[in-house]
Amino acid sequence: MGKFPAGFLWGGAVAANQCEGAWNVDGKGVSVADVARFKPDVDKKDYVAQWHTSPADIEAALKTENEVYYPKRHGIDFYHHYKEDIALFQEMGFKTFRMSIAWTRIFPNGIEEQPNEKGLQFYEDVFKELRKAHIEPLVTLSHYEMPLYFVTHGEGWASREVVDHFVRYAEVCFNRYKDLVKYWLTFNEIDSVFRHPFTTVGIVEENYPSKLKAEEAIYKALHHQLVASALATKLARQINPQFQIGCMVTKTMTYPETCNPKDIYLAQKDNRMNSLYTDVQVRGEYPRWIKKEWSDKGFEIPMAAGDEEILKLHTVDFISFSYYMSMVQSVHADQREKVGGNLATGVKNPYLPTSEWGWQIDPEGLKISLIDLYDRYQKPLWIVENGLGYNDQVNPDGTIDDDYRIEYFQSHFEQIAEAIADGVEVMGYTSWACIDLVSASTSQMSKRYGFIYVDLDDYNQGSGARRKKKSFDWYKQVIATNGEDL
Ligand code: BG6
Repeated sequence: MGKFPAGFLWGGAVAANQCEGAWNVDGKGVSVADVARFKPDVDKKDYVAQWHTSPADIEAALKTENEVYYPKRHGIDFYHHYKEDIALFQEMGFKTFRMSIAWTRIFPNGIEEQPNEKGLQFYEDVFKELRKAHIEPLVTLSHYEMPLYFVTHGEGWASREVVDHFVRYAEVCFNRYKDLVKYWLTFNEIDSVFRHPFTTVGIVEENYPSKLKAEEAIYKALHHQLVASALATKLARQINPQFQIGCMVTKTMTYPETCNPKDIYLAQKDNRMNSLYTDVQVRGEYPRWIKKEWSDKGFEIPMAAGDEEILKLHTVDFISFSYYMSMVQSVHADQREKVGGNLATGVKNPYLPTSEWGWQIDPEGLKISLIDLYDRYQKPLWIVENGLGYNDQVNPDGTIDDDYRIEYFQSHFEQIAEAIADGVEVMGYTSWACIDLVSASTSQMSKRYGFIYVDLDDYNQGSGARRKKKSFDWYKQVIATNGEDL
């Protein structure tokens, strides 16, 4: 056998809110992403400040049609360029393409009885285009783009009604695309509720009297998402038993700084928290420790009759995850150099290089994560995000030599191959992002991830033209040889 199994699903990933643009076209409603402001004056490594959206920010955003300071409103105009982009993915030999459906294209405010036909038609056209190109779609139902209505008219996902609205949305999508899409993910990085609650569950922390109350609301919202995910999974199986449903988490492996048992315990605590979400979505129940923590903190997480059974019965078929970095914990954290970044903050790992945005690059951590997840759950795994954000420069002749990106992927693919050799079942790999798009955390275009360059800058200046980077041909060769030629 080769390094990667036959039928390995190679491809790339994007999210609707970061690439589609056309934020107010064809009946689309306003999502939380449409009010995310570009903050050039805030440190790009300060992920808390970059993500933060206050009530005043929302109010200001709703008063303007501006797209320059709200870059997710314009994205890379995938809405009008999808045919050209899919042709490039086909040229690279993609077997799969991960994308998301913008809930607000289907139900503009989330609460309507009838879906918006123009939105449904758009995704039908995209899926048909993918099928024509022999590319299997992998579709996320909710990727940081919930209807803003739930924030301005309630407590986001902390309001129970959102569960029914989401399930109705999922049902419409499953029915409409039942012959076009087989692989589905319910919520992108469901664990990110604590890192940026506004974007994920529509919780505005300023609306709560204390940090503790906001934390309780986030747990409520999380519970509702977990129930909604299980109910959607149940429906999916009724609508098409061939569907494969996955959960999606951020894999954030934390290492102890030393063999001091105190360091080890701190790292264990972080890793335990990172497993909470998959424990529920794969094993079907909350671990005992979290119930104890809720009770110690005086949290009341309302369990409706039947919730526990729903979680138990409708677990996922596979586990998908994003992987960008690893973390370090230390009892001496206050005396150590820190790193920032989108996903977490912690102690700097002296053995690892760090990207311009403060992300610690750790290819071996990917192997360790794959082994860790497989040993814990024995479910097929799918890496659905991994990649390097870099401010690529175009040479005078129009070429882009992104050798650093090739090196990044090479080192990560070698580690996936080693995990497979160690007996781990890996279904596929979709790079983040296969084409440049607007960054989720910083709303920059200059944080580029693609094999395909998009000629737009942070202020939406440029032609929007697509160009192949050096990594384009390299990835094409990797896919053509099923990972033998790295
Ligand atoms: C993941 C998200 O957390 O990281 C993506 O699912 C995001 O939406 C990716 O784009 C990279 O983060 P950023 O902030 O560099 O775009």
